Amino acid sequence: MDTRRDFIKKSAIAGAALCLPVSLTRESRAAYPDFKTRNPKRALVLWYSQAGQTRRYAKLIGCILKGNGLSVDARDMQEFDKNLLPDYDLIIVGTPVFYYDIPSNVSEWLAMIPSIKGTPVAAFVSFGGPEGNQHNSSSHVLKLMAGKGGVPVGRDAFRNIASYPTSNWNNPKQISGQHLPNAATFDQVRRFTADVMEKITRGETISVGYEVTLREGLSLLPLVWLNKKAISKHTVDAAKCIGCQTCVKQCPTKAINPSKQMVDQEKCLACFGCLNNCPADAVVMDYMGERLYGFPEYLKRNKITIMEPPEFNTCSL
Ligand SMILES: Cc1cc2nc3c(=O)[nH]c(=O)nc-3n(C[C@H](O)[C@H](O)[C@H](O)COP(=O)(O)O)c2cc1C
Ligand code: SF4
Ligand code: SF4
Repeated sequence: MDTRRDFIKKSAIAGAALCLPVSLTRESRAAYPDFKTRNPKRALVLWYSQAGQTRRYAKLIGCILKGNGLSVDARDMQEFDKNLLPDYDLIIVGTPVFYYDIPSNVSEWLAMIPSIKGTPVAAFVSFGGPEGNQHNSSSHVLKLMAGKGGVPVGRDAFRNIASYPTSNWNNPKQISGQHLPNAATFDQVRRFTADVMEKITRGETISVGYEVTLREGLSLLPLVWLNKKAISKHTVDAAKCIGCQTCVKQCPTKAINPSKQMVDQEKCLACFGCLNNCPADAVVMDYMGERLYGFPEYLKRNKITIMEPPEFNTCSL
């Protein structure tokens, strides 16, 4: 938990960053190890996904690689044994952008992986806002994997309808993303996958840089802490709860206990995973006194059906 002093310090840094020009970029092309192989046979596509968007892109990438003749495992990183990573000769990691960065459970997971020296690695993020700090978020993933010896060969960001719950989902930015993903988004995913494979064949790496932007500045603010302060109620409605344990499975920090109608506020990341995944509308969350509802309910109320890529008709992973 941040102290008042931490909060002031972070806000001051963020304030300084907000004054910087939007285009300043710190790129670095480190001396990467040699490629383990330029002809990958075994690929791993890992994702963290709360509302299903990142999972959709990860599976599409997996299907494309499979169509190219690779042996592919596509898995939720939360259920994957890190020690198996060195067995693969291509690793692609996808995550949503949360609070202008990658979720802390993802960065913590990646920080603990074993050496993957020489393995080509690529990162993608899914995001909801037009200025979602996606470049720095994918850089964060690549930096963590490069820190374990991975060789960066690709990065991309795929925009889709945001799954960030508000008491008023119908703001203009939200609506501007309502039609996404569409056929163009899936084409972008296909291009990204083809580009990654081409880079590996040619033995080309990419530079990993952070942009110092307004959004970078925002990521320095204690946004989770601020949001937790604004969440005025966070509990479980015992009358509605069907005891399915989905919220427990989805919660990255195991902060929610539906049988006791309790949420451990110290552990909670304000990620809304419980709210966004409860099938019984039993997770109760008030934000500054207003009741929130989750992503599935939002799609239902607005009669939105998310498009699936045609590859899924013939490919299973
Ligand atoms: C807690 C939370 C924070 C978010 N923060 C951002 C953000 O900073 N920038 C952004 O573009 N989208 C943000 N979003 C939207 C998600 O990045 C977007 O909906 C993403 O595609 C969700 O992926 P998933 O369905 O795999 O969980 C946020 C969503 C949540 C739930
Ligand atoms: S309790 Fe809910 S909002 Fe808090 S970390 Fe767990 S899933 Fe996320
Ligand atoms: S997901 Fe909803 S219904 Fe299932 S245990 Fe949690 S609160 Fe209860």
